[in-house]
Amino acid sequence: MSAAERKASRLEVFIARMSAQKAFLDDVAGRLPGVPGPVLELGLGNGRTFDHLRAVLPDREIFVFDRAVTAHPASIPDGEHIIIGEIRETLAWCGHRISERAALVHCDLGTGDATADLAKAAWLAPLIAERTGAGGFVASGIELAMDGFDELPRSDAARLGRYWLYRRRGS
Ligand SMILES: C[S@@+](CC[C@H](N)C(=O)[O-])C[C@H]1O[C@@H](n2cnc3c(N)ncnc32)[C@H](O)[C@@H]1O
Repeated sequence: MSAAERKASRLEVFIARMSAQKAFLDDVAGRLPGVPGPVLELGLGNGRTFDHLRAVLPDREIFVFDRAVTAHPASIPDGEHIIIGEIRETLAWCGHRISERAALVHCDLGTGDATADLAKAAWLAPLIAERTGAGGFVASGIELAMDGFDELPRSDAARLGRYWLYRRRGS
């Protein structure tokens, strides 16, 4: 059976997801000049996307959020730029450390479970919307409903890999 005729395997979904993630981050990096503000990385994890973000956006301040630091030692930011704790709380209360609204929020908190992701999206969407500046981007592995944002077109890889890109209206 050809790949086009059957349900995609989890390996294929994972590869599509990583391809879409990198493509979105590269695309946004090229569109970020002129959009002020830091980058927020929600979910440091192993630090792979943090490492990519700092490679493609070397002049941007990047803050990472996670409940614990488990990243590769080469991909851990300095203490000023790590915010440890439950994102539901830290994102709501980070304004005293991150005074400017973000030019890009990258959200890599998806669980792969549709029900858990729906529950997470319900509290996450308003918090991300609050922290994103006018003209700012949100790349997310969870579908988010945010007033004042446009959903940007997605590639086949992004559809298969469940990745979304949004932009806040205004400039
Ligand atoms: C899929 S991993 C991120 C992978 C990362 N982007 C990378 O490239 O290595 C998700 C991370 O988000 C963190 N996380 C998930 N839900 C969270 C929450 N509610 N609060 C804080 N951290 C959370 C997990 O601890 C995990 O490290």
